[in-house]
Amino acid sequence: MSPLPGSAPEYQTHLMLFPAEHARPDYTWPSHIDAVCPLYSELSSRTRQGGSLEYYGLSFASENDTSQVSQDDAFQPWDPKRDGSSRIPPNQAAEEEKFRLYAYRSPGLFVEYPELLSLRTLPSGQVMRQTLDKLFQKPSARLASESHLYVCTHGARDCRCGVVGTEVYEALQEKVQEHELRCKQQNSQPARQIRVFEVSHVGGHKWAANVLVYPHGDWYGNVRVSDAPLLVRAALAPASSRHDLEDLRERLVLWPRWRGRLGMKSQEARDHMDLWGPPVVHTAQIAPRARGSSASGTSQAASSQQDAQEYPKLKESAETSGHHTLRFHGYDGTWYDVQGQEGETLMETATRHNLPSIEATCGGELECATCHAYICNAAADPNARGDVTQEVSNADELFGPISDEEDDMLEYAIDRQPTSRLTCQIPVSRRIAQWMQQGGRIELPRY
Ligand code: FES
Repeated sequence: MSPLPGSAPEYQTHLMLFPAEHARPDYTWPSHIDAVCPLYSELSSRTRQGGSLEYYGLSFASENDTSQVSQDDAFQPWDPKRDGSSRIPPNQAAEEEKFRLYAYRSPGLFVEYPELLSLRTLPSGQVMRQTLDKLFQKPSARLASESHLYVCTHGARDCRCGVVGTEVYEALQEKVQEHELRCKQQNSQPARQIRVFEVSHVGGHKWAANVLVYPHGDWYGNVRVSDAPLLVRAALAPASSRHDLEDLRERLVLWPRWRGRLGMKSQEARDHMDLWGPPVVHTAQIAPRARGSSASGTSQAASSQQDAQEYPKLKESAETSGHHTLRFHGYDGTWYDVQGQEGETLMETATRHNLPSIEATCGGELECATCHAYICNAAADPNARGDVTQEVSNADELFGPISDEEDDMLEYAIDRQPTSRLTCQIPVSRRIAQWMQQGGRIELPRY
């Protein structure tokens, strides 16, 4: 998986367009908003290279609080007959639907465009740019009282965003409500009011769920439901940054999920992570090499569509010096036969070999559920995906029983099934390797 830091787009300013007249629930968003929304299409063309809003990013967001929708908040479906290929020029059209525009810029600035926009009355890109520049210079642009969390839930664009994004969106809403309730009970004011929005595709669906924390400008990827409390905490931090040891903001950034920051170039984001992110401790890994094994060490991932029947041959290298050949099956059908060492967990074997879908962001502390996988019986067809709904009868004996803590954390796994386990809780053992030789396998989840 490609690294997260530096993966956020290099926008100087990020624009968020909200419908102001007709609430448009996220489930009606088509794959490409510009195909059905002429105003979005026009603004989007201005943000392209050489356009009047070059270096601006544009996204479409939905207002959770429909009291913000000014007149008729009844749902108006998008016009499916619209031909997205024929653009309607601004100022000449009958397109009068009005939209609200929010704009964010570094460091920690937020402004709202002073008038609602419609295609019929849309100012030129130059005028919009000048208007926003002036507004950003005002002291009121330093938004100190509010934070805005945007979660990409654009399922028509990518189902990962639809599934994981929606879960994270709901978890954030819940955590924000809990926080507000706690403040109320304690008779205290929240440090900032947090508003949570759904946003259309922001780029990088493979890192779903993507969450943007504004006006801070921090972009996060691979966010899971269990990250919601830490993201709320990050959103409560001051928005501008001093970059010093006392800087509360940098201390509250959720670094393991950080993609970058609005206004930063990719390399700047990577450097910033090196400077301000958590220290990286590289543990020494001294693995005794079996006599006669290759100089490349123990990693022998079978990273192609290898015939499952070949497995017994590979076991020759197993069971020497506490090493065992373990079999993982990727969601895309790829088989991975890798060497696990006694003394480590299945998660550690998987991450050492960079297997997909095992992120293990908490490092085995039972705090993330991103090491989730399915422990499956042998299938009749050795190349087929194992039945994730069918428990292995002697699972406790082979893998050890599920503790209450693991059971709790499994609730946060995406698509939990009867065969679900957290691989950070299962030690590598000879018995597991033998069970795999008889066809047992670990099915890696989709994400
Ligand atoms: S690595 Fe986080 S719960 Fe297993």
